[in-house]
Amino acid sequence: MIGIGLAGFQTDYQHFFPGKEWKDDRGVHINAHGGGFLIHEDTYYWFGEHKIAGKEGNKAHVGVRVYSSKDLYNWKNEGIALEVHEDPNSLLVQGCVIERPKVIYNEKTRKFVMWFHHELKGQGYDAALTGVAVSDQVTGPYTYIKSVNPHAGIWPTNYPDSLKSWPVDLDRYERPSEEWKEAVVNGIFLRRDFEKGQMARDMTLFVDDDGKAYHFHSSENNQTLHVAELTDDYTDFSGKYTRVLPGLQNEAPAIFKKEEKYYMFSSGLTGWKPNPGKSAVADHPLGPWTPLGNPTRGTDEEMKTTFWSQSTAVIPVMGKEDAFIFVGDRWTPENPIDGKYIFLPVEFENSKPIIHWQDQWDLSFFDQNENTDE
Ligand code: GAL
Repeated sequence: MIGIGLAGFQTDYQHFFPGKEWKDDRGVHINAHGGGFLIHEDTYYWFGEHKIAGKEGNKAHVGVRVYSSKDLYNWKNEGIALEVHEDPNSLLVQGCVIERPKVIYNEKTRKFVMWFHHELKGQGYDAALTGVAVSDQVTGPYTYIKSVNPHAGIWPTNYPDSLKSWPVDLDRYERPSEEWKEAVVNGIFLRRDFEKGQMARDMTLFVDDDGKAYHFHSSENNQTLHVAELTDDYTDFSGKYTRVLPGLQNEAPAIFKKEEKYYMFSSGLTGWKPNPGKSAVADHPLGPWTPLGNPTRGTDEEMKTTFWSQSTAVIPVMGKEDAFIFVGDRWTPENPIDGKYIFLPVEFENSKPIIHWQDQWDLSFFDQNENTDE
């Protein structure tokens, strides 16, 4: 339900309509792709890539937009949280790539910290950097600090000494081959990037109950995830990190915690095209993580495409125990501003998180489906 209120356009949605156009309080389709969600002072904030029309819209021409909501159905535009610049000397120059922005709040410093995947203007996806920015206000403006290839000169804590001195000879291998696959699993790209710092593309953040924050990112040519502990102020890497699911090609990680277990939704590696979703479980963010398979339940087509979407976040629902929402993007790279969002309730089947399609649903779903596991 939408309508024009006295003060202008505002919405009165009472349901989620996954995959449909979704208007904000100005009557404009929500523009926050690759989104990240933060709950602060009883309000949800949705940060995401502000896209523009046409293919050029896949690059950052505006920055990171933020919306707020009290009920998850109706979203108020809160403007641009992180701006790109016209200054060609700025790394955040218009035409760079800013993807999958995520914001967390640091209780100690009382600052909001945003991390994002950052590619440099004119360099495609080669730089594979992660950027960080901070703000005193949740909606910004965020001040850019830096972008890095993390962990230069630092080995993951779960990387065996026996592999550290192996030669990096990328040309030695026929590709594809079993030998090449083994070299990737054994960290040939990790060793290649050891001196300069590791690749960090698709990413998410997770703050644990003890206040420690973790940065999950696709590294090693997108073949292996890295999970990295952040410093106490969340604006840097502590230096402690692990390789996760080596060689299994996970992108689009989204993390949540339920009853002392950590769950991950992720995707395979097919660019803007959807692919079968993946899931995994762990007893600690740093792992080890155990794959749980495709979380999608539906037709073959739906299972192959994750309902034509790619994961980006999981939202814990305020005031409801163990209620989580899977959020995915339906990318439309020819006209990215048109991309739609998938919000679906996370259900549990034999202790595995799964998702079913819903044309329309609301939060009472979670009341009806308490203890869905049995
Ligand atoms: C996807 C990734 C997106 C974006 C895209 C570019 O695999 O999840 O965030 O980087 O590739 O092709």
